[in-house]
Amino acid sequence: MSIDQRPAGQRDAARATAVVERLLAATASRDDDVDAVIDDLGAVEVADVVVAELLFRACVEDLVPAAGDDGAAVTVVFSHRGRDITTFLAVTSGGVRVVPGELGAPYEESLSPSLTQELSETVRALYGPLADVSATTRRIRWPGPEVVFPTPQRPSLPTVFYAVVQRLVQVLDRREPSDLTELAVRYGTDKWGAMHQYPRRYETHFGPLRDRRLRILEIGVGGFDDPAKGGGSLRMWKRYFPRALVHGLDILDKSPLAEPRMTIVRGDQSDTDDLDEVVRRHGPFDIVIDDGSHRPEHVLASFNALFPHVKPDGLYVIEDLMACYWPVPFGGSDTDLSDPGFTVGFLKSLLDGLHHEEFLRPDARAALPTDALISAVHVYHNLAVIEKGPNADGSLVASLLRAERAAGPKADPA
Ligand SMILES: C[S@@+](CC[C@H](N)C(=O)[O-])C[C@H]1O[C@@H](n2cnc3c(N)ncnc32)[C@H](O)[C@@H]1O
Repeated sequence: MSIDQRPAGQRDAARATAVVERLLAATASRDDDVDAVIDDLGAVEVADVVVAELLFRACVEDLVPAAGDDGAAVTVVFSHRGRDITTFLAVTSGGVRVVPGELGAPYEESLSPSLTQELSETVRALYGPLADVSATTRRIRWPGPEVVFPTPQRPSLPTVFYAVVQRLVQVLDRREPSDLTELAVRYGTDKWGAMHQYPRRYETHFGPLRDRRLRILEIGVGGFDDPAKGGGSLRMWKRYFPRALVHGLDILDKSPLAEPRMTIVRGDQSDTDDLDEVVRRHGPFDIVIDDGSHRPEHVLASFNALFPHVKPDGLYVIEDLMACYWPVPFGGSDTDLSDPGFTVGFLKSLLDGLHHEEFLRPDARAALPTDALISAVHVYHNLAVIEKGPNADGSLVASLLRAERAAGPKADPA
């Protein structure tokens, strides 16, 4: 029997991620019986996972109660098969305190506002396709007149009540902000700022995928040697793609950063055994982002190992192309700009592959496995986005020209 030796926080994150994986599968089709899956997983465990997701997406930690309102609570009630799971969210100046719920008797009115919804409808709203989001069982109850109406002792209902409920409703309606630059700044990745300007490029390619159920792998978690620091871009992807499982790979131990829906794997991007293991455990992927060492030989090793495990129609992104020109510290070179052993020269070889049907000489270059599998290569300043897809349009003119060449010179009619 194997013993799980991970610390409890990581075990919890892994367990919650496994629950989310089941919920993502259960909500993929409108025909699936989400209630049955909730029964199987346990309604209280599902409610815990749903509350964690709600709080992550709603960013309620931003809300600061006014003086005197510290500890104002909002009650979230999920109903499942006629029973209620009640969770209290206490908004304090030190953050949000969650008092997790138990499956119990129907919720009684109290002095705090409450938001009630069927658990299965909530699960669909959070993890299902946007088109399936509904709020038919939602009910918001405000406290009675003794709290709502101002008195000399209490000027008015704490505004933080309204703000918390409004944010929860926004998340349940899936009307969250989708500006990647804002998310990059919020979660502290360097993908936008003094160093890079990637979010607008990412929005072009990732925007149409936001509502899809995705598996994302990013190489490079960040945060230097501190295991508890970094993960900014992983959280950004987790927030931007509500239906994605996000995986981070780093050569350093970053395991304490694991969260529900966000997995951390330790491994070296230049080691094919490590990459095979990531694929085995978490692949295939819809999106791979290489923001690791940026050393050209590592970038190429990762591409060669991982691209076969990108799904058809998936994307493979390479960040920080400038590193391939810089000998120190990345081992780059600007001596032969077409050398396919360096990242930009390698991208040029993919461009040739994109046009492999246009070559006239049979020995123009050896065929590459990617030639028929890459449908587009988008290159921006320091960023490449490679689209996986069939590249077999054919070339009528090139095949005529090849046939003409093969037939040899035409005989002189004279
Ligand atoms: C630029 S940081 C990643 C930043 C993060 N993606 C973000 O946007 O917030 C690069 C990371 O790559 C990791 N790294 C360096 N060499 C690596 C290798 N050979 N394999 C995997 N990760 C590596 C480093 O430990 C570091 O955490």
